Amino acid sequence: MDFYEVNEKRRTIRKFKAPAGEEQLRKLITEGTKAPSSRNTQGWEFVMVDDPNLIEEISEIKYVLTRDNKPRGEPVPTELEVAAQRQKETFANASIVLVYHPEGAGHAAGAWCCIQNMLLAAVAEGLGSKISYFRGEATERINRLVKAPEGVTLAAAIHFGVPAEDPGPRSLRPEGSWLHRNRF
Ligand SMILES: Cc1cc2nc3c(=O)[nH]c(=O)nc-3n(C[C@H](O)[C@H](O)[C@H](O)COP(=O)(O)O)c2cc1C
Repeated sequence: MDFYEVNEKRRTIRKFKAPAGEEQLRKLITEGTKAPSSRNTQGWEFVMVDDPNLIEEISEIKYVLTRDNKPRGEPVPTELEVAAQRQKETFANASIVLVYHPEGAGHAAGAWCCIQNMLLAAVAEGLGSKISYFRGEATERINRLVKAPEGVTLAAAIHFGVPAEDPGPRSLRPEGSWLHRNRF
């Protein structure tokens, strides 16, 4: 599979039928670490999460975070409840890798380059992937669960596994609508 095919095939998968194998996961992480990083600091750290209780707790944190996506004090609309439940379910049958980086925007950029490498490598391995993003108190709760040391920031939880869904057609901005020359 050449780069263009891999890039075309990479889609967010939100239903998995089986997790990635340990060897596959290690391979994806190794490919991730070939990403560029600010001053070649390679500050990324990975936490492979295979403890079912821990995965359950992280999925619950994602559920609560998604459900909270509304003005404080207002009831949870049905569609938000459904979306939150769906987010929780994306943790089923998936391998979970938490990607951390040292504090700071430069390190965050490197970690995200690393994540993209991992997502593309997953395609080459015949696997699907999904990013779960966390912020605020949710991130702090995960940090406590995995005993993250001071000074590291969670970029995201990445799900890998055998896809159990077809993501459907891409929805892309019109070709060139994002392109400018010299000035906006
Ligand atoms: C920074 C970032 C955070 C994301 N967080 C989530 C998430 O928490 N839950 C989710 O379902 N998808 C998440 N996604 C995936 C996007 O929704 C997805 O990439 C986008 O809809 C385009 O679909 P595609 O990946 O299939 O091309 C995230 C993507 C990025 C880059």
